[in-house]
Amino acid sequence: MRLAVTGATGFVGGAVCRAATAAGWEVTAFGRRPAADARHLGGARYRPWDIGAAKLADPPDVDAVVHCAASATDTGVADEVWRTNLLGTHHVLVSFPDRRIVHVSSASVYDPYRPTVRAKEHEAPVSRYLNAYAAAKAAAERLVLAIADDPVILRPHAVYGPGDTTLLPRLLENVRAGRLLVPGNGRVLVSMTAVSSVARACLLAAAGDAVGVFNIADSDPISIDRALRGLLASAGVRARPLYVPAALLSPFARVFPGGRLNRYVISQFAMERTLDITAAIDRLGYEPEPTTFPAP
Ligand SMILES: NC(=O)c1ccc[n+]([C@@H]2O[C@H](COP(=O)([O-])OP(=O)(O)OC[C@H]3O[C@@H](n4cnc5c(N)ncnc54)[C@H](OP(=O)(O)O)[C@@H]3O)[C@@H](O)[C@H]2O)c1
Repeated sequence: MRLAVTGATGFVGGAVCRAATAAGWEVTAFGRRPAADARHLGGARYRPWDIGAAKLADPPDVDAVVHCAASATDTGVADEVWRTNLLGTHHVLVSFPDRRIVHVSSASVYDPYRPTVRAKEHEAPVSRYLNAYAAAKAAAERLVLAIADDPVILRPHAVYGPGDTTLLPRLLENVRAGRLLVPGNGRVLVSMTAVSSVARACLLAAAGDAVGVFNIADSDPISIDRALRGLLASAGVRARPLYVPAALLSPFARVFPGGRLNRYVISQFAMERTLDITAAIDRLGYEPEPTTFPAP
């Protein structure tokens, strides 16, 4: 298999590159930065490309593209988020016409105003979002389905594991004096996704025949409290969650919409966020594993 991976310098894209090269695939890795660490890419050939700027002038001949590049921030500048996540996706699609596209989307496309309870793929996208990241990911999904031949869209939720650039760093930023302030009560359920599982799902999708949208997560949801304690312990941080009712935080979130405890964050921690992964198991051949946090 000859594979192109966008976002290869990132958390998910790096894991995809390493899994693909370990499987003996020929991989061309793309990132925005001028150069990348060969170990992060599993030794794949690296090429810089700002996907928001233009289509690729001389794309490599590949069998499939795994598109992981994104502005993966829930408080990012909206213009940059839309430029990368929607215009950039358009540039990826037109750079590799007639190629199998595996688009790494996000469970953020489910309705943020309601709990996501063992959500099935047809329940998203919706018409309302709380930030540019989720809205642009939803718009990119629509674009992929409209333009690409036989695309696969993957929707992981809460990706964790070695090299995490997103979830764990955001939690650690918010630890104060051994406490992590968390909206809600910690008892609601969440689907977590090991980064190795996202990488496995990407390879299955790139090499297989299945077409459509697939939720990707670990085998069973866990409580938010277990997830947070596991993530903090995996970083070797001696801190524990301090739960605050969402109703007490919501007025502050409205007054300070760009703050750390914004409405999106509250919607993610105070409501159930679980995914039905039956379609991925049945049609992609995805084999989920239980949530296990890495040792520090
Ligand atoms: N992490 C999660 O919990 C999670 C959950 C659900 C879905 N996802 C999805 O998984 C994908 C990967 O996320 P991640 O966690 O791996 O994020 P990440 O570590 O921040 O990586 C983002 C990648 O995108 C690249 N990128 C950003 N802007 C770009 C641009 N304009 N042109 C080219 N490349 C650009 C970055 O390149 P440089 O670093 O070289 O600038 C980097 O390689 C995203 O689509 C995200 O929506 C992630």
